[in-house]
Amino acid sequence: MSRFTLLNAGVFIMAFIGSAAGGDFPDSAKLPAKADLPDPLVLFNGNAVTTKEQWFKERRPELKKLFEHYMFGASPPAPKVIAKFERIDKNALGGKATLKEITLTFAGIDGPKIHLLLVVPNKRTGPAPVFVGMNFAGNHTALDDPKIQLNPNWMYAGKGVKDNHATEATRGTQKNVWNIEDAIDRGYAVATFYSGDIDADRKDVRDGVQKYFGKDYDWSTIAAWAWGYSRVIDYLVTDPDIDATKIIAVGHSRNGKTALLAGAFDERIAVVIPHQAGCGGSAPSRRRGEKNAESVKRINTTFPHWFNARFKEFNEEPDRLPFDQHCLIAMCAPRPVLLSNAVEDTWANPTGQFELLLAADPVYRLVGSKGLGAKKMPEVGKLLASPLGFFMREGKHSMNRQDWAAFLDFADKHVKAK
Ligand code: GCU
Repeated sequence: MSRFTLLNAGVFIMAFIGSAAGGDFPDSAKLPAKADLPDPLVLFNGNAVTTKEQWFKERRPELKKLFEHYMFGASPPAPKVIAKFERIDKNALGGKATLKEITLTFAGIDGPKIHLLLVVPNKRTGPAPVFVGMNFAGNHTALDDPKIQLNPNWMYAGKGVKDNHATEATRGTQKNVWNIEDAIDRGYAVATFYSGDIDADRKDVRDGVQKYFGKDYDWSTIAAWAWGYSRVIDYLVTDPDIDATKIIAVGHSRNGKTALLAGAFDERIAVVIPHQAGCGGSAPSRRRGEKNAESVKRINTTFPHWFNARFKEFNEEPDRLPFDQHCLIAMCAPRPVLLSNAVEDTWANPTGQFELLLAADPVYRLVGSKGLGAKKMPEVGKLLASPLGFFMREGKHSMNRQDWAAFLDFADKHVKAK
């Protein structure tokens, strides 16, 4: 089956009203060092933010500019997204679900394609809420299904990957990471796509989506990936099977950093779940929390392409950053954000992440949300499901079935499936 749909993706016009219009901020060397987490409710010019209106009209747009300028780079506005249906299987997962394989391209651009896998529950009374998440190894790894297209792009080396390309041996290998059937059983759809469709995660080769959009944009790889989430959402909001008001962005680790950035910038995302996202995502850039947590210097050295050039200027002194990652969390307010973690994954700095929730809480309260429902981290294995939520399980760095149980409980609390 082949059908073309032209989506009017809608261009985001992000008006910037603030003390430093157009992202014209000082050199990093001129910024004062502040060991404490910057107050999210103080503008760059030092004025306090005291109303909800001021937060949304001034501070939130200013933070967007600050994050673009000093950390992620700026991305282009949305092009029109064209959806081509490659395959629809109404009898997936033993009849429980409808599976769609859709290729997304951009009008007027002979460039990258996003291969989207969308699995929707058949048993439901209306459009389904949807988890949208970027994967590490191609859609064909997320389910045991011999028909899902093998991703044709560069892949991380790993079992079944040959010359950095997927082989049949990799089918279904991430099934226990995605747990799609659990989501389907609870009434949720799952949409997933591969990061390498947007920009391959290679520090030595830059050959992603960025080159098609001109030199005005200095978007880093994480910015490009987050832009990819938004292009997938451009499609999802047009799919009649999907409830466009119940989009949950999820991602693990580097993909969790991306999910948080997407959630902060794209208000169509109703719930944000950065899982074990750590430094550059849901953990502080300033040194606090776990002693052995990843530092700004380390992440910039190992993964220079994830952030823009300016972010490297903070390697020695992250205290000069005019924001910390709680400001990115606060940009999601009042939309629920769940930071989920694992006890042994101290590299991702779970305790530092909880400090960020405490620091983002005043913004949630200002805009009328109940924010963080506890002053201390909840017990291991217990979900804190307040709008600023937290979960930590036993074990290591991975995304597994227990994590999904917490994601689904959190989603039930905030955007329950009908
Ligand atoms: C590395 C990196 C982390 C990242 C992780 C992952 O450990 O240092 O920042 O989150 O990879 O993506 O799995």
